[in-house]
Amino acid sequence: MQTPTRKRLLEAFTAASGEFLSGQALADILGCSRTAVWKHIEELRKEGFELEAVRKKGYRIVSTMDRVTENEIRLGLNTNLLGNMIYYLESTDSTQKVAHQLSQEGCPEGTLVIAEEQTNGRGRLTRQWHSPKYTGVWMSLVLRPKLPPQKAPQFTLIAAIAVVQAIEELISVIPEIKWPNDILINGKKVTGILTELQADSDKIHSIIIGIGINVNQAETDFPDELRSIATSLAIESGNKLSRSTLIQHILANLEKYYEIYMERGFAPLKILWESYAISIGKEIIARTVTGSISGRAIGISDEGVLKIQDSNGVIHDIYSADIEVKS
Ligand code: BTN
Repeated sequence: MQTPTRKRLLEAFTAASGEFLSGQALADILGCSRTAVWKHIEELRKEGFELEAVRKKGYRIVSTMDRVTENEIRLGLNTNLLGNMIYYLESTDSTQKVAHQLSQEGCPEGTLVIAEEQTNGRGRLTRQWHSPKYTGVWMSLVLRPKLPPQKAPQFTLIAAIAVVQAIEELISVIPEIKWPNDILINGKKVTGILTELQADSDKIHSIIIGIGINVNQAETDFPDELRSIATSLAIESGNKLSRSTLIQHILANLEKYYEIYMERGFAPLKILWESYAISIGKEIIARTVTGSISGRAIGISDEGVLKIQDSNGVIHDIYSADIEVKS
């Protein structure tokens, strides 16, 4: 976490949108001396920011390294809640684990845990999540909605909408959602979402939304067993992407949809989710822990539960499964 002064400095550069800010203007904004401003600027340079300083004009940020440090994320972040606290880790076993810990210690809603690398990234159903250094987005967000725990699965769907839209805002690809938590491009997985809970039987204490996105990996960066089923945004678009910009878009979208959800419920978002979902209307196989069900995916309920109609016309509610789309 950074000092409030550094936070305000980056907010000032964000608001300036690449224009110069004079040393005096920055000193006024931060309530410190021009020498103190210069010291903060030097700190940003050490972190990899390229800052231009021109006499009588002041300072402006020219470029940044592709890192996901708190400073990189703050520069250009337009949210009120999400990312109000950012914990940046060069390497950790799992951001999900760190976020659980912070949540138990009472961190505020909107806290973001982000790492350059995870050594033991966790996926659904106790799978591993491959999270190599400097190439992807490995992040966990803490939300504290005043809701019963049954509502939690909807947050996976809301997060998926926020990620799909962020990808569409930045590159020309068509991401699709495979219920409940996979985002695919051209049939290969680019993102996984893991939603976990700290709750009593009637009340959520926190929802930890873990999002893993393959961003700048080349094909050779994936281990053999993943190469045919996983892809990255760079592979699909042909260009590398700024990971911090992607995170800013996700946080802004998720904040918007979280507000809509808390005001109006899931109904308006359900329609949006279904418009991105590949499995709806298709013949699928749902593999659950108790067995497999084949049939047509006819939609999701207001709770985010997948509905499958089998060949006898019976409708099954699927709460958790791996989905294979047959046609
Ligand atoms: C899945 O598709 O199985 C879900 C993958 C979720 C991976 C993310 S990466 C950030 C966060 N930390 C973890 O250990 N897992 C989630």
